[in-house]
Amino acid sequence: MSQERWSAVDEYFARVLVPSDPALDATLKTSAESGLRAINVAPNQGKFLHLLAKIKGARRILEIGTLGGYSTIWLARALPADGTLVSMEVNPGHAEIARKNIETAGLSSVVTVMVGPAVRSLERLIEDKVEPFDLVFIDADKESNPDYLKLSVKLSRPGTVIVGDNVVRSGRVADEKDNDTDVLGVRSFLELLAADSRLTSTAVQTVGSKGWDGFSISVLS
Ligand code: SAH
Ligand code: DHB
Ligand code: MG
Repeated sequence: MSQERWSAVDEYFARVLVPSDPALDATLKTSAESGLRAINVAPNQGKFLHLLAKIKGARRILEIGTLGGYSTIWLARALPADGTLVSMEVNPGHAEIARKNIETAGLSSVVTVMVGPAVRSLERLIEDKVEPFDLVFIDADKESNPDYLKLSVKLSRPGTVIVGDNVVRSGRVADEKDNDTDVLGVRSFLELLAADSRLTSTAVQTVGSKGWDGFSISVLS
């Protein structure tokens, strides 16, 4: 199996199941023109996240790692009229591009982008005693995943769904000799998921236009 064939199937799925959309297309275009790395979720993965939010009936979504706002828009579009999405981004340039893309998608009144290190932003939401989130998407720097999980749980309630992106990294997660900080972060994250008796968790591998990777998914009891 090759990257070429994985991409061909993703393109086929996108053609059949994920109609092109002006705001999402514009987001990818402006992100590329601004020099952002194309590490956004793929279209069919974005729609998968959208479906999870719909299935959950999420009214409040937390995203850690905004980039150009591509996954943000997919998730925010699953919200009801009175829904809210908070997305956290450390890079002010990324946040600015994302805000423009979110504006183009007509979602500025639904989405708040918090600029700064996500750990600080999460601590602020905890201090502010905000209402718990229904769905959390963790997709920023992988070495901080354990911190993001611990803080996200504090912003959750029974039934909250927590999704982690990039838990496979081309198989590196299971290579004992690979001790890069991002791989160690993902492993510690998975071990923390397993150790928390309030969380029921699994992980699935994916192949496609973004290579070989995967998601973790957990629900808090
Ligand atoms: N969720 C996006 C992709 C996010 S890429 C999508 O699928 O469309 C990861 C993002 O996390 C980058 O924009 C990066 O700048 C941001 N990031 C990295 N370290 C961070 C930190 N400490 N706090 C908040 N964001 C961070
Ligand atoms: C990287 C980060 C991501 O969030 C992703 O989906 C793919 C790659 C990275 O940092 O390499
Ligand atoms: Mg990712």
